[in-house]
Amino acid sequence: MLPLRTFALIALFIFSGVLAAFVFGFDLKDTVQPLEYDDEQEGLEDQVVIKFSHVTSEHTPKGLAARKFAELVEARTNRTISVEIYANGSLYNDQDEQQALKENRVQMIAPATSKLTSQFPKFQILDLPYAFSSYKEVRKAYEGSIGRTLLAELHTSEMKGMGFWYNGFKQMTSTTKALLHPADFEQMHFRRMPSPVIERQFQALDASTSLLPFNKTYQNLNVEFIQGQENTTSNIYTKKMYETQDHLTVSNHGYLGYIVLTNETFWKNLSHEQQKIIESSLADTTDWIRRHSIETNDAHLRELKRTESISIHYLDKEQQEIWRHALEPVYIETEKFTGRELMQELNQIKDQ
Ligand code: LMR
Repeated sequence: MLPLRTFALIALFIFSGVLAAFVFGFDLKDTVQPLEYDDEQEGLEDQVVIKFSHVTSEHTPKGLAARKFAELVEARTNRTISVEIYANGSLYNDQDEQQALKENRVQMIAPATSKLTSQFPKFQILDLPYAFSSYKEVRKAYEGSIGRTLLAELHTSEMKGMGFWYNGFKQMTSTTKALLHPADFEQMHFRRMPSPVIERQFQALDASTSLLPFNKTYQNLNVEFIQGQENTTSNIYTKKMYETQDHLTVSNHGYLGYIVLTNETFWKNLSHEQQKIIESSLADTTDWIRRHSIETNDAHLRELKRTESISIHYLDKEQQEIWRHALEPVYIETEKFTGRELMQELNQIKDQ
């Protein structure tokens, strides 16, 4: 006679074996057969992945727009197109993202328009100091003939221009002293984006510049290689530049916005329907970020004030006029690159 405990163990062993056979099948061959056809798997090979690389934080206008765009595309394609976002330059920084796009290592990027000026000099028009005095004027440029001319410029490259995204007006920050008058810039060294107009802007203020990637700006301010920089309040706040900068002047002297780019070959290989969905998602995102970018920059300015580690200065009317006047010579030099026609179109926007 088997003891009761041993009998119970043997019974449990046999029972688990039978149960396992029912659950996993009696024939091992079955487990390595292809999966049964299932509606939801249809077109799995057609799954499209868009790698979207950018250099700012997820909380900036560009970070928020990229997220919104991804949500819209994924919802409208039932996730047959997915958008993977790589923020903060985690995949490519602003110096190599255009090359990565051209080689289809990423399928979308949204660099500041200033970062296209070396290859496409007409883009310099958007970097002119005081080119725009309101959000309405920026929109007219992006959505009107200036925007169309600039998008057409890209036709010979492997990059397809999809539209413009908004960030905000640029403000000046500095380590040592408040920048209230053009003379305050003398002998100072600033970080700048790769745009000849921006270089000329600082030269007109008797300041020198170094071209530095966005993600190296904090470090270079920290070691005092540069003593100042210009950016939107959103980029200044999210990059914690207030930790290294004592002064911020609300100068609104220039506008920082983006061009959304995709790889031309990648685009051509999409179906017409896929292209339509991406275009409509992008248009809706653009409309959304145009409004939200203003709120985001305002909110980040309030956050900067709350930190109390950076003094915020506003220019009065007279000071603004002095800055404007000091920066006028930049227009004459820039017209050689943009052409007269584009300059006239800019003037028409200002006059309206
Ligand atoms: C910068 O380099 O300061 C900006 O272009 C960063 C960005 O993408 O907003």
